[in-house]
Amino acid sequence: MKKWEIIKNIKVEKLVFGWKWFAKAEDWKTIFIIGWPVPWATYDIKILKKKSSFYECQIINTVKNAWYELPQRCDMDGVSGWARWQIIPYEKQLEIKSNQVKEAFFHLEKFDNNINFEEIEPSPLIDGYRNKMEYSFGNYISKKEWIDIRNNLWFHKQWEFSKVVDVRSCILVNDEFNKIFREFKKALLDLWYPAYDQYIHKGFYRHLMMRKTHFTNEMMIVLNYNDSYNKDYNLEKIKKAMLWVAEKYDIIKSMYFSRHDWPADIAIWKLDHFYWEKIITEELLWLKFNISPTSFFQTNSSWAEKLYSIALDYAKKDDLSGSTVLDLYAWTGTIWMIFSPFAKKVVSVEMVTSASRDWEANAKLNNINNIEFINAKVEDYLDKYLKQWKTADLLIIDPPRSGMHKNALPNIMKFNANQIIYVSCNPSTLARDLESILQTWKYKIEKVKAMDMFPHTHHIETVVSLIKK
Ligand SMILES: C[S@@+](CC[C@H](N)C(=O)[O-])C[C@H]1O[C@@H](n2cnc3c(N)ncnc32)[C@H](O)[C@@H]1O
Repeated sequence: MKKWEIIKNIKVEKLVFGWKWFAKAEDWKTIFIIGWPVPWATYDIKILKKKSSFYECQIINTVKNAWYELPQRCDMDGVSGWARWQIIPYEKQLEIKSNQVKEAFFHLEKFDNNINFEEIEPSPLIDGYRNKMEYSFGNYISKKEWIDIRNNLWFHKQWEFSKVVDVRSCILVNDEFNKIFREFKKALLDLWYPAYDQYIHKGFYRHLMMRKTHFTNEMMIVLNYNDSYNKDYNLEKIKKAMLWVAEKYDIIKSMYFSRHDWPADIAIWKLDHFYWEKIITEELLWLKFNISPTSFFQTNSSWAEKLYSIALDYAKKDDLSGSTVLDLYAWTGTIWMIFSPFAKKVVSVEMVTSASRDWEANAKLNNINNIEFINAKVEDYLDKYLKQWKTADLLIIDPPRSGMHKNALPNIMKFNANQIIYVSCNPSTLARDLESILQTWKYKIEKVKAMDMFPHTHHIETVVSLIKK
């Protein structure tokens, strides 16, 4: 088979690497299908790349839908890429994700057939779970034709930052969120100010960011505009239009403008607060978190509560008294806050400098004193930690998708910790890092739990408990 050749009637078998799908060709080579096929559906595909052991292909025609396929529920024209899996029944989504995690473990050289895979944990909310959305103003791309209407507020088309699809409602946020979005969309578009154009760097409206707390039901709205155009457009008029919407909804507690004139697609920069509170407050378990426009917060609050409860349960919290917990890749340190009442000391390591601001504010808000925040790269800091503290009883590792830096892994072993809890958003890098840890023969996998943080998407989280042999 050659490049550009069309292969007919290919049935998608399974998901690999998070977003590529797998099938077998007639010559038994592997086929990776890019784009968004549905497992067990049948397609005609075109070969884009030919390698010695695999083909990379693109779908050109759907021959047969999968037997279980559901209709799309998001009310939009075009595909935003946010909730692609909504056509797969939720039970099936869980099955695919759970199998994907198990498969990553089966490739481990030190794989032990007796690994305790616990049931996958569904998200407490299957629809309407997102607490934050960032909508973009821009040109319009419809499924059928490209229509240049500059004055609009939609979602970016996936991987095409100059284009947007028209969204009226999205199943990832709840009905009230969708309703308020539509009200702001109308109020802002009725002023007829042009959307910022990514190609020519002209225009005014750039993004609308909406955040909503799940447990306390408070909402924050941030309108981002192009700063170099503010003289031509009337901010007072915009404020009035936004206040008109805000005053109808008690839930709206805070509003800001955000401005910059960079070509970069950034929603939050120079902030001008203009309505009510400067922050909104979320509550998870017994803790409070102040959320500003720049704060990081887990996107699915009810899921975050679940994750933290499971991490505490895995760590057998009552055995932690007198212990030191080292929280690596901490961001604003929500995990250490959960562990702090049970441990003697918690040390969090995070490389992003601005995270310490939220960390400090949250520590103060919750009267937590037995904690330390280290602003450093994990791979650079571990040596220093070892010299100063020598040991840690529990390690919590929650790295980005790329997993741990190779220089960090050998140091992990030197702590002689009783337990390591590894939280991962990428089964492939999780397996790679576990391989290194298991090769030392010091630890064994106690249990593994896949967790679904983002229903209707391909994302999957996994929590692994490793204990000293
Ligand atoms: C998955 S998030 C952690 C979330 C956090 N544990 C929580 O529960 O909210 C990964 C974090 O690792 C940080 N990070 C990435 N590479 C790093 C490195 N080399 N050293 C330290 N932090 C790093 C990122 O900035 C990000 O905050």
